[in-house]
Amino acid sequence: IIDIEGKLVMPGVIDVHTHMREPGITYKEDFTTGSRACAKAGITTFYDMPNTIPTTTTLENLLEKKKLASKKSIVNFGFHFGGSKNDNIEEIKKVLRNGEANTVKIFMNVTTGEMLIKDDKILKKVFENSELVLVHTENEMIDKAIELNKNCGKGLYVCHIPSENELKKVINAKKNDDLNTKEHPIYAEVTPHHLFLNTEIRESTERNKMLLRMKPELREKSDNEFLWEAINQGEVDTIGTDHAPHLISEKLEKITFGMPGVETSLALMINASNEGKISLETIQKLMCENPAKIMKIEKRGKLQEGFFADIIVVDTQKEWIVGVDDTIESKCGWTPYKNWKLKGKNTMTIVNGKIIYENGKINDIHKGKEIKFSE
Ligand code: NCD
Ligand code: ZN
Ligand code: ZN
Ligand code: ZN
Repeated sequence: IIDIEGKLVMPGVIDVHTHMREPGITYKEDFTTGSRACAKAGITTFYDMPNTIPTTTTLENLLEKKKLASKKSIVNFGFHFGGSKNDNIEEIKKVLRNGEANTVKIFMNVTTGEMLIKDDKILKKVFENSELVLVHTENEMIDKAIELNKNCGKGLYVCHIPSENELKKVINAKKNDDLNTKEHPIYAEVTPHHLFLNTEIRESTERNKMLLRMKPELREKSDNEFLWEAINQGEVDTIGTDHAPHLISEKLEKITFGMPGVETSLALMINASNEGKISLETIQKLMCENPAKIMKIEKRGKLQEGFFADIIVVDTQKEWIVGVDDTIESKCGWTPYKNWKLKGKNTMTIVNGKIIYENGKINDIHKGKEIKFSE
């Protein structure tokens, strides 16, 4: 981290957990709007989840998704392949063999999408055949995933851990030399919403009761505090947004799980650093460095091409009001943090050496590239 006249030059944020909704659900978000939202907020790379329509559970669907993102995304991008409830092990093998992805996402509890895997035999096969398995797990499913990783996996990334109880399970496993090894490491992801929001905020207005719904559901204030503590103890590996946009009309009509997140994640964290809750170094580690390591992002570019630069410039002292002093880029058009007064804002985003965002203006001429990974 370099200090330039009170502004910070940081590596671009890498968001391991987003749902960009393309293809098939593009009335909520697409690679154009989703990547613009990233660019504005300082995210230079996003990883997209497989619960689109169709699901990203065949090589063909993955390649189609890559084509769409290459045409539209203005930031860099990568994809998590999906484990299917109908057993797509042969597709998983093909995708990994061809180097088209190095991660597989599976859903072990009910959430948005049709990807819940209940069959233990399929779960086992997914772990056996994947490099790193990202899991949607809640409560006892976390134990199950840790067990599967130990017995037949090669790496486990536990998404969006919401609570003290659930994080304790993962922390204990991470500290256990039999469960967390070089051959099968365990990583813990926490989202901004499980740090900044809780049931008290959700229940405070009729609107929030509908809007602030997601999987895993928000928990208590004490859970927020435990998550912060764990972060500061070095027990959490990444902050991923779980950017999961739905239209506000859908959210108000019936309970719909998921909220947008990419436009506010970094600013919320910088604001938290101003409040003494976290250091800038830890923010950098959880939002830039660790995601790059876990996703094995290679030192991109051959020497003659020059190395790509993904850099952001953050004004840590800039005061602004969310949803008032900025324009929402996400197609869903709303943010759960509207009217929050924050101190700290991204002011410039450089992707692959090109300025794609500066002081409120997005430059969408340059397109992002697919992130490759290295062994
Ligand atoms: C996500 C979505 O809408 O795609 N929803 C959510 O509540 N988090 C799916 C998920 O990550 O579980
Ligand atoms: Zn999930
Ligand atoms: Zn072992
Ligand atoms: Zn998600």
